[in-house]
Amino acid sequence: MDGSSDNTTRFSRRHFLSWIITTVGAVIAAVLGSTAIGYFISPAFQRKEENWVDLGPIGTFPKGNPTKVEFVQRMRDAWVTTERRSSAWVLTSDGENYIVFDPRCTHLGCPYHWDEEKKQFLCPCHTAVFDVGGGVVSGPPPRPLDRYQNKIVDDRLYVFPKPTQVKT
Ligand code: FES
Repeated sequence: MDGSSDNTTRFSRRHFLSWIITTVGAVIAAVLGSTAIGYFISPAFQRKEENWVDLGPIGTFPKGNPTKVEFVQRMRDAWVTTERRSSAWVLTSDGENYIVFDPRCTHLGCPYHWDEEKKQFLCPCHTAVFDVGGGVVSGPPPRPLDRYQNKIVDDRLYVFPKPTQVKT
């Protein structure tokens, strides 16, 4: 009897099983590898994330006079989360509607302050004067004070601390 066809069948079966095991192993490695790679590099493709900041209960802001509020802003960029101390001027006349000013002068970015007697914002760097609504009264600033978007959630005031310019 000729044993060559037996050998050929055995070889083919062994070859086929080997091929199946190799293929399944390669698929498993590819799936696990791509998952792991995706896990480690996906933060690099995420947008820089800035968050709304809670400034506190709306009842704590006096009506009519701007109030300076200090806060910590957390920013996430890929794997890194950074914190930045910042501030804003909060103004409300009725306790329901709020204006939140960026704390930097629109001339060259100096911090300004509220003068209670004059009822004006004063910037000491180049003697700019702004009214209570942020409009330029005098001095070199090219535009009114920049503002932050704000919203009220559960009776708390939140700001998105990215300055937006006021159209004049
Ligand atoms: S920076 Fe405020 S007036 Fe120049």
